[in-house]
This record gives sequence, C-alpha cells and structure tokens, in this order.
Amino acid sequence: MKHLFEPYSLPSTTLNNRVVMAPMTRARRPDHVPGPDTAEYYRQRAGAGLIITEGVFVSPQAQGYSDVPGLWTDEQRAGWAVVTDAVHDAGGRIFAQLWHVGRVSHTSLQPAGAAPVGPSTLQAQAHAWVQGVGFLDASRPRALGTDEIPRLTADFADAAARAVQAGFDGVELHGAHGFLFEQFLNPHVNDRTDRYGGSVENRARFLLEALDALIDRIGAQRVAVRLSPFTRASDLPADDQAEAVYAYLAPELARRHLAYVHLSDLRLGGAADVPEDFLKTFRAAYDGTILLAGGLDRTRAEELIASDLIDLAVFGRPFIANPDLVERMRHNLPLATPDPDTFYGGGAVGYTDYPHHDGSAA
Ligand SMILES: Cc1cc2nc3c(=O)[nH]c(=O)nc-3n(C[C@H](O)[C@H](O)[C@H](O)COP(=O)(O)O)c2cc1C
Repeated sequence: MKHLFEPYSLPSTTLNNRVVMAPMTRARRPDHVPGPDTAEYYRQRAGAGLIITEGVFVSPQAQGYSDVPGLWTDEQRAGWAVVTDAVHDAGGRIFAQLWHVGRVSHTSLQPAGAAPVGPSTLQAQAHAWVQGVGFLDASRPRALGTDEIPRLTADFADAAARAVQAGFDGVELHGAHGFLFEQFLNPHVNDRTDRYGGSVENRARFLLEALDALIDRIGAQRVAVRLSPFTRASDLPADDQAEAVYAYLAPELARRHLAYVHLSDLRLGGAADVPEDFLKTFRAAYDGTILLAGGLDRTRAEELIASDLIDLAVFGRPFIANPDLVERMRHNLPLATPDPDTFYGGGAVGYTDYPHHDGSAA
C-alpha cells in the first residue's frame, strides 16, 4: 500500500516523503528580498518531502500584498539562493510559487500608483494588504490589452529562469485563489472579446501560454501549477460551467508532462469545495502527479493516498507551528496550534521560534 512517509519520485527529483509544505505568504520582507530569517524558516521545515515557498511576485505590477519577496531582480535571486542552499543542505526539496494577483491589488502597491490589471475593468470586492495601513479595498482594475499578455508571460518565464539559477528544484505557477489566471478562467470576470475571452479554450489560453513559456525556459519537469476548482476566493463569482473548464484543462495539462498539478481546496464555506467526485474525475483525466491541500490531517492524507486519489498531501497551517510536522505525524505526537496574529508581518515571533516537539529549538 502507498504510504505518506515513503519516498516519491517527481520527474526531476526524489522526495523523502509524500508530505508537502503549502505555499504560505508570511509578509516579512519590506525590501522584497529574502533574508537570513527566510532561509532559517524554510531550513527548519526541510523535513517536508517538498516545500513550496510563499507566493513570490514575478514583477512590481504583480503585487497585492506588502513585504512579500519577489523574483524580478538579481538581488532577490541571490537572497533565494541562500534559502535553497539551506533547504538542500538539510535534505529537503523546494519549489518557488510564482504569483501575480491581477485585479486584487491597490494603486498604492502598483508602480507609479497605476491601476491594477485584470481581464476586465470589473472591480473585486476583495482586499489588498498594505503594511502599516491594513486591508484596503481592491482598486478598479484596467483591462489588459491583447498585446500586453506576452509581456506578462515573459515576466513569469524570467522569474522561472531566476528561480532555477537560485537553485530551486522547480516552480509552481499560482493559478489559484481568484488571482490573475482564475480571473481569466472565470466567465463572469473575463468579459473579453479577444482570443483570451469567450470560449473555455480562450479563457484557458493565458494559463496554458504561461505554462508553455515556463516549459520553454526551464523544462516541463521543473514546472507545476496550482489550481483551485470551484473556489470563490477573492470575490470570484460562482461558475456553473467550471466542470467544463477542468474537463478541457486536464488533458491539456497531461500532455505537457508537468512536475505536478496542485489542487487547493480553501474550504471557505467550512466544507470541502473540491468534492471527492471531482477528484475521481480529474484523476481519471490527468495521468500525472496530483497534490491536494486544504484541511488535511494525517488520517485523511493517508486515506486519500491509499485510495489513489492523490499522490502527495499538502499541509499549510500545521507547518507554521510544527517545524517538525513530519516527525510528529510519523510518531502520532501532538501538534502545536499556530497563532493567526503572527501569520503576516512582524519578525521571528510566530515565524522561526516554534520549537520541536521535545521543546528543543527547531
Ligand atoms: C498564512 C497563510 C498564507 C497563505 N499564503 C498562500 C500563498 O501565498 N499562496 C497560496 O497559493 N496559498 C496560500 N495560502 C493557502 C495555503 O497554501 C493552504 O492552501 C491553506 O492554508 C489550506 O491548507 P491547510 O488547511 O493545511 O492550512 C496561505 C494560507 C495561510 C494560512
């Protein structure tokens, strides 16, 4: 039987176990450059089979939250190289999550105070986060011109190239949670009449072109994608045709031979928004590695892996307070509870000061 604590081979690297640390924004880098604290935080958690970093902005325009590290400068690349060395020295593997928030931003976070960009001018009833100010209503976006899309895809490809130079084992395109790519996928946010709007194929074009740009630059075995089927995050309207989107995407993703597809269930309404029936359908249509995140514990993760619905189990909040989460789960030790007040911003407190299960420093 397949087991949570056994090694697993991705196309480009082998993981020590099937436990993955979820991408989690911690907003502690005002200069957007990863520092020694970033390296220490990820080193402490290298017992995960795979770490996916916090969302990393691919350009200044991509930003919707303050103090998040980027990958658009050589200085940022050098900062991340220290992080990947620390994780590799500790026996772990690490992918960078590449992020553009699209319309979910505020003019004060945008270059020259410009409007955020999206598929349309439809404003999100959602929030951007500005250090020292707090949550601000997302500003009215400007609709991207058809001829601007290649520049955005190039930003992702450039960030991916820097990620590989920085020693990352791969990159995960953030295609989830109502950010840029899901804004294009959603027929109620995307009202375009060009080749990026209308049919399912057109709405999925930007996502697939961005993946192809990453594949061209760093190779398919290093490219992954995160998606959140049926999410309503960031004011994404319900799409009763969402199943058609995924029926189209599954074979398109399969033929690209990606490192993995990461499905995120934010459970915003409390219950699962990725039903087990959907997982079965997607599993049948997509023959690569599948990750699932959202409210998992050891028991549920083992059930999903043993029943062959997923390959790798992703844990978010449990990794914040339990740097040695894999050891704790392996030995059925109690888990510490993270403090939500220190999730975003601040220093070492609630970041690198959570101890091991025996009380020793992580
Ligand atoms: C503090 C925090 C920050 C997060 N930041 C990101 C992010 O940058 N990118 C992303 O895709 N998801 C992000 N998420 C969602 C997590 O990756 C994960 O999907 C979610 O926490 C559900 O998993 P869990 O129930 O194991 O915590 C974040 C979650 C938390 C709690």
